[in-house]
This record gives sequence, C-alpha cells and structure tokens, in this order.
Amino acid sequence: MAGGFQRLVSLVHKHHPEMRAQGTSLWGAREENYREHIRASIKEVLQAEEHVADLARPPRSNTFSISVSHAPNFGGWVAIPLPARIGFDVEEGRRISEKVIQRMSTEAERKDCPNPSFLWCAKEAYFKALAQDQPQAITQLNISDWELLEPDFYSFRASPHKAGHGWVLNHEPFLYGICFV
Ligand SMILES: CC(C)(COP(=O)(O)OP(=O)(O)OC[C@H]1O[C@@H](n2cnc3c(N)ncnc32)[C@H](O)[C@@H]1OP(=O)(O)O)[C@@H](O)C(=O)NCCC(=O)NCCS
Repeated sequence: MAGGFQRLVSLVHKHHPEMRAQGTSLWGAREENYREHIRASIKEVLQAEEHVADLARPPRSNTFSISVSHAPNFGGWVAIPLPARIGFDVEEGRRISEKVIQRMSTEAERKDCPNPSFLWCAKEAYFKALAQDQPQAITQLNISDWELLEPDFYSFRASPHKAGHGWVLNHEPFLYGICFV
C-alpha cells in the first residue's frame, strides 16, 4: 500500500475498525487494466458477488458499501458493511484548480476550510457515499466543521442530504478523502 493511503486507513480505523481497504500505485490510471485489478481485489478480499466486477457501473454488493477512486499514480477501494455507506476519493493535489473549487463551493465553505482544495476531495467522497441519494450536482452538498486531528489529517462534517462525517489526509502528492453516511 502507498504510504499516505496506509496512514489514512490506520487513522480511520481508529473510528471505524470495520472498514476494509486496499490501494496501490500499481492500480493507478496509467497502468494497464487498472480498473479490472481493483475490482478483482474487491471480489477476493470481500468474497463479494460476481457482479462487483462489472465495470459498467460502480461496484455494488448486498453486504458492503464499496467505493473506488483512482489518480494517475494510485488507485484503491474502501468498503464498510451495509447499511452504513462509504465514499472515497484520491486526487493529486496540484491537479485541483482554483477555478474548479470556486465553481463547486461557497465562500463560507472556503473560509471555513484549512485548504480550499480539501473541499474537492471531501465533496467527491460525500457524493459517492450518498449513492442512491446523490443530488444533481456536487454544489448542493455542504462541507463544514473542519478540525485538525493530527498533522495533515482533518475531520469534517457533511450535509444537508444524509448527514455525513469524514476525513481528509494531505500526503504529498495526494489528497485522500473518506466520508461515512
Ligand atoms: C462520478 C464521480 C464521483 C467520479 O469521480 P472522479 O473523481 O471523476 O473519479 P474517481 O477516480 O475518484 O472515481 C471513479 C470511480 O467512482 C465510482 N463511481 C462512478 N460514478 C459513481 C457514482 N455516481 N457514485 C459513486 N461512485 C461512483 C466508480 O467506481 C469509478 O471507478 P470505476 O468505474 O473504475 O470502478 C465524479 O466525476 C462526479 O460525478 N462528481 C460529482 C458530480 C459533479 O457535480 N461534478 C461537477 C463538479 S464541479
């Protein structure tokens, strides 16, 4: 597992020991068949149904909420037993532009956030966790109550759809976000 992801998983495990997760630079979007490899890992580790390998839609299972994310040099998945739901996002921090952040967040959100680029990761993770309750646009989601828990590791609250909570880890070159609803 990549160092940042490993740290993220061990920090989130303190709050949610039931979470399962795998990630590696070998599943980055630059690698051949990276999406297939991620799905194969989900199927094997969670002993999940055949259809989690269906690339035409996000992985779904009758027992786990599962979320996948990939950046050019990293890919991974996280899962928790249903009925709780989870969302995961990984981004290369430098690829998150000021313009995009302005478009998907409010001034109040940016003011409250330790680093505006964290909003992207947090919102994408929340959006994914909402699954069937997803709004039309990510702008309809609100991220607030940021708290520094450890160096480069922050918690946040998510609303107004199903209430959520999550974390962002800033580990160069990646930003990781996980959200639970
Ligand atoms: C669909 C979306 C969540 C994907 O995120 P991304 O950052 O482009 O890509 P990621 O690598 O992080 O995630 C891709 C994975 O998300 C999963 N995914 C796709 N659509 C999803 C959805 N609606 N819900 C949950 N997970 C989804 C898939 O598993 C996919 O990987 P896979 O197909 O290889 O298994 C994102 O593009 C999106 O639509 N965001 C919100 C919509 C929005 O308002 N965007 C405008 C922002 S200004």
